[in-house]
Amino acid sequence: MSGVQDVEAKPGANAIFMVWGIDDYPKAKEVVSKITGELEALVRSRLNRFPGSETGAVMGFGAQAWAQLFPNRSVPPELEVFKEIKGEKHVAPSTPGDLFFHIRSSRMDICQELAAVISLDLSEVAHSLDETQGFRFFDSRALIGFVDGTENPESLNATQFARIAGDKLFAKSEEFLFGSYALVQKYLHDMKAWEKLPVEEQEKVIGRHKFDDRELTDDLKPENAHNAVTNISDENGEELKIVRANMPFANPSKGEFGTYFIGYSGKFSTTKRMLENMFIGDPPGNTDRLLEFSTPITGTLFFVPSATLLSQLAEED
Ligand code: HEM
Repeated sequence: MSGVQDVEAKPGANAIFMVWGIDDYPKAKEVVSKITGELEALVRSRLNRFPGSETGAVMGFGAQAWAQLFPNRSVPPELEVFKEIKGEKHVAPSTPGDLFFHIRSSRMDICQELAAVISLDLSEVAHSLDETQGFRFFDSRALIGFVDGTENPESLNATQFARIAGDKLFAKSEEFLFGSYALVQKYLHDMKAWEKLPVEEQEKVIGRHKFDDRELTDDLKPENAHNAVTNISDENGEELKIVRANMPFANPSKGEFGTYFIGYSGKFSTTKRMLENMFIGDPPGNTDRLLEFSTPITGTLFFVPSATLLSQLAEED
């Protein structure tokens, strides 16, 4: 099963990620209301017609779009225009985006048709900034050959990390309860350089064994391994997680091989800390070695309202 705003769902076999820029605000409000009101039914219809297709759609809003479309609502506490993260060696750029759609299904035809239905309406008032088609690669591997997603939290644990949980910090923001922050980054891999690296060295970059996905033991895992710099804890030593639904994408004839990174979190500060660890380093300079082979070309933050709030937005003046 999947559904609407199901941020805990597995990445699935196919996905389409769309980022849109709004051109015409007064008119966009009407179109966006139509989509927010219809999205749940559009997904339900496809789940009904194609049982087991695990069809799902997540819709998100950028900071500027949220303020313009819903001027009478407060802004979700951590929603902001993503600020570029610049280290000595690596940069996580910030790129524009007003509306975001993450469509997934076991069937690409369903993803494509759902994206087409949404696009037909949206193209009246907005333009596409990016559309990426992602696919499952073998046993859920990134194109660099490592299994991606193993340490993701699951079931209730996933909900705890992926959604705004209404804990103390967020007590004032009831309306945003069970919403999520989605950070997306489109990465391109330097496959030539990566493939020149012996497997044993690649394993030190990721922090796991390539073939069987076992984690490297502490004595073998370097401090700049990807799973070392992104492994973070709160002040009480409790591990902080996000829910990742990364998908590979590729245009082989153009030499383009990438990972569409998407991290859902109830606290954007968690994702941001992981990014700072990767791009600046903690301590500074201990940057993620994966960045020597992977470069982000986009970076945008969206707020994903709960399914309940999404349908309420449709009725708003
Ligand atoms: C080129 C882009 C990326 C690729 C190919 C990639 C790939 C991987 C792989 C193969 C693993 C090990 C298996 C697993 O536990 O999933 C992993 C772990 C992880 N990644 Fe990434 N990743 C990318 C970007 C990011 C970014 C941008 C973040 C955070 C903002 C992130 C956060 C994490 C976390 C939290 C883990 C688990 C660490 C742990 O073991 O505790 N990744 N990633």
